[in-house]
Amino acid sequence: MAEPLVVIKDVQKHYGDFHALKDIDLTVDKGEVVVVIGPSGSGKSTLCRTINRLETITSGTITIDGKELPKEGKALANLRAEVGMVFQSFNLFSHLTILENVTLGPIRVRGMKKADAEKEARALLDRVGVGQQASKLPAQLSGGQQQRVAIARALAMHPKVMLFDEPTSALDPEMINEVLDVMVGLAREGMTMIVVTHEMGFARKAANRVVFMADGQIVEQATPEEFFTNPRSDRAKDFLSKLITQ
Ligand SMILES: Nc1ncnc2c1ncn2[C@@H]1O[C@H](COP(=O)(O)OP(=O)(O)O)[C@@H](O)[C@H]1O
Ligand SMILES: [Mg+2]
Repeated sequence: MAEPLVVIKDVQKHYGDFHALKDIDLTVDKGEVVVVIGPSGSGKSTLCRTINRLETITSGTITIDGKELPKEGKALANLRAEVGMVFQSFNLFSHLTILENVTLGPIRVRGMKKADAEKEARALLDRVGVGQQASKLPAQLSGGQQQRVAIARALAMHPKVMLFDEPTSALDPEMINEVLDVMVGLAREGMTMIVVTHEMGFARKAANRVVFMADGQIVEQATPEEFFTNPRSDRAKDFLSKLITQ
């Protein structure tokens, strides 16, 4: 039985006069991997940012595991901790070591003891293949390594769902797969994931569903196989033809 984890209902988002998200309805079940794809400016990042309330919504509702997103305060901090987010730019703290970057949230937000947080952080860093780098600063790591640290940092909070916003688009080509491999591993272990990416290989390997957005709307949804071989809308056909010839 499918258990809904993230439920987005009739969400509208305006930036001033600009209607950035229009009538968004999307349900992501526990363990499901949803890839969000679409042209630049279609609202993909805005959608991710509303799900962990980095952005407010104009109307509609977003619930995570049955709870509506709180407006502010400690309840919001707690709920945000349930939503792991990985951005295009890794956003690691440059003055903290890799280990400190991963333990900061668990110690500050979850109130973990330092020794326990470090033990878990080391295990997570091993899991994403950067265990040897724990005492270095972010600038001493490659982009692919830094992005894997960013994934470990998000996992350290024990999120119920992970959001990835174009996690490989700032990376040199030879580093893309090392990050995608970690993400495929997470998907196989049953993590619920919403992933904005144009990496069709990842979508085919790991996604249960592709959601195509254009102009702030969800235009179509399908399995990766259906979507890539037989897109229904003209917008999707046009988008895919450009993506393939890149
Ligand atoms: N803070 C903001 N203020 C005003 N407009 C914004 C803001 N953030 C995004 N937008 C606009 O909303 C639209 C969707 O942006 P975004 O969600 O970043 O798209 P995508 O991630 O699909 O490229 C774009 O037209 C963008 O210019
Ligand atoms: Mg974006």
